[in-house]
Amino acid sequence: MTIKKVMTRDGSPTFHSSEYDETYHSTGGALTEADKKYSEACGIERMEEADILDICFGLGYNSAAAINRFRGKRISIVGLEQNQGIVDEIVRMGDEYPFRCAEIMRKVAEEKEYHDIKTSVKLIMGDARETIKDLNDNSFDCVFLDPFSPKKCPELWTEEFFLEIYRVLRREGKVATYSCARVVRDNFRSAGFTVRDGPVIHRRGPATVAEKAYDTSQ
Ligand SMILES: C[S@@+](CC[C@H](N)C(=O)[O-])C[C@H]1O[C@@H](n2cnc3c(N)ncnc32)[C@H](O)[C@@H]1O
Repeated sequence: MTIKKVMTRDGSPTFHSSEYDETYHSTGGALTEADKKYSEACGIERMEEADILDICFGLGYNSAAAINRFRGKRISIVGLEQNQGIVDEIVRMGDEYPFRCAEIMRKVAEEKEYHDIKTSVKLIMGDARETIKDLNDNSFDCVFLDPFSPKKCPELWTEEFFLEIYRVLRREGKVATYSCARVVRDNFRSAGFTVRDGPVIHRRGPATVAEKAYDTSQ
């Protein structure tokens, strides 16, 4: 598998994966997509503190956007990723990393964790379908779900995987994802979520926000 750097239209870099024949972000703007489709869609600015699960961490842009928006408040992030090669690019990018918290993300890439008084990030390497099973019930306010497309990476868009996401989310917790594909929304509903449109950014269709409206396990 090879990855090749690509510049996106807001000036932030991303990569193209030869294995999936897709880019890691929309070529319309990687930074903008990370900020609007995930942090803004989940409404994290309205929260006093946040526990976030970033599934398909990659270059960590979705987490970095959340840290930048959340300055001064407590934020704790767990990232799930299986490809060390893309995580290594965070360090190789140096000053090209497009978020102010680049130093934090470099530390996460190298040491798999970062902690200060307000910010904590832990990166767990492995297949997300397995690593998610070790996370506690009702422990996250938001999930950023950013796999390659349902066509190329169907295993991370299944009802079975969404049931695990439902389990780890707190009541009224939200999942933000870029896809509005019918199979994705149907699987969210089958797993117990309510589904609404997310923002329209760089595409004709909206993103998706799925909410754990009622927790039957409590
Ligand atoms: C579209 S990219 C995510 C981009 C990322 N959010 C970022 O900001 O760079 C999809 C990511 O999912 C990862 N991935 C694919 N299958 C996975 C799996 N089963 N478990 C964990 N990560 C996986 C890929 O390695 C890739 O980094």
